[in-house]
Amino acid sequence: MHKPILAPSLLAGDHANLGASAAFASSLGIEWLHLDIMDGHFVPNLSFGPETLSALRKAGSKLFFDTHLMLSEPHRYIEAFAKAGSDQISIHIEPEYNHLETLTKIKALGCKCGIVLNPGTPPDAVFHLLSSVDLVLVMTVQPGFGGQAFRNEMLPKISVLHEERKKRNLSYRIEVDGGIDLANAKECHAAGTDTFVIGTSFFKAQDPALVAKTISTL
Ligand code: DX5
Ligand code: ZN
Repeated sequence: MHKPILAPSLLAGDHANLGASAAFASSLGIEWLHLDIMDGHFVPNLSFGPETLSALRKAGSKLFFDTHLMLSEPHRYIEAFAKAGSDQISIHIEPEYNHLETLTKIKALGCKCGIVLNPGTPPDAVFHLLSSVDLVLVMTVQPGFGGQAFRNEMLPKISVLHEERKKRNLSYRIEVDGGIDLANAKECHAAGTDTFVIGTSFFKAQDPALVAKTISTL
C-alpha cells in the first residue's frame, strides 16, 4: 500500500492569489497540488489553463502538480500541460478519443498518467487500462464544482479497483475527488484509497494543518 497523500484542490484556493494558496499548502509539508482543468463542455464550468500552471512554477512552486483534465478532447492539450509543469496528467474515460494512445503520450512527455471515472461509470470500464496507468481517480461527485456532497455509493467501486490491483499485482494509486472530508477519507482509506483530493475541507477548514496531519497518518 502506498503512503497516504493529500492533494489539496486549488479550485478552492484564493483565485486572486493562487500562488499564495499553493505556497500555503507547501508550508504545511504537503507534497501534491490538485489542479482541476474544465472546458465548459465536458463539465458545465470553467477553471484555469496551462498558463496558470506555468505561473505557479515561475512563482517557485515545487509541488507535485496532479493535473485533472475535465475536457472533451484532452488529447489536444496534453503537451501544453506537460510543458506548463504538470507532474501527472489524468484524463477521463467517458469521452470518445484514443485513451491508451493519450496515456502513452503523457508518459512519453515525462509525466505520470491517470485515468478518471465519473460516478456513473462502472469500474470495469477502465480494466483494460489498469496496467498502463500510475493512478486511477474515482470521482466521488459529478465533476464540475467544488463543495458538493460525497457520494458514499462510490465506496464499492474503490474496493473493486483495490481488489483488481491486488489480484493483478499492480501498483497504481487510487485517488478520490469530490466532497472529501476527514470522516469519509477514513472510509475511502479502508476501501483501498491512498490519495485524497480535498478542496473545500482543506482550504476553507478552520485548521488545514490538522487536515494534512490526519491524512498523512491514516
Ligand atoms: C470537482 C473537482 C474537484 C473539486 C473538489 O469537479 O474535480 O477536484 O475541486 O473540491 P471539494 O473537495 O470542495 O469537493
Ligand atoms: Zn479534480
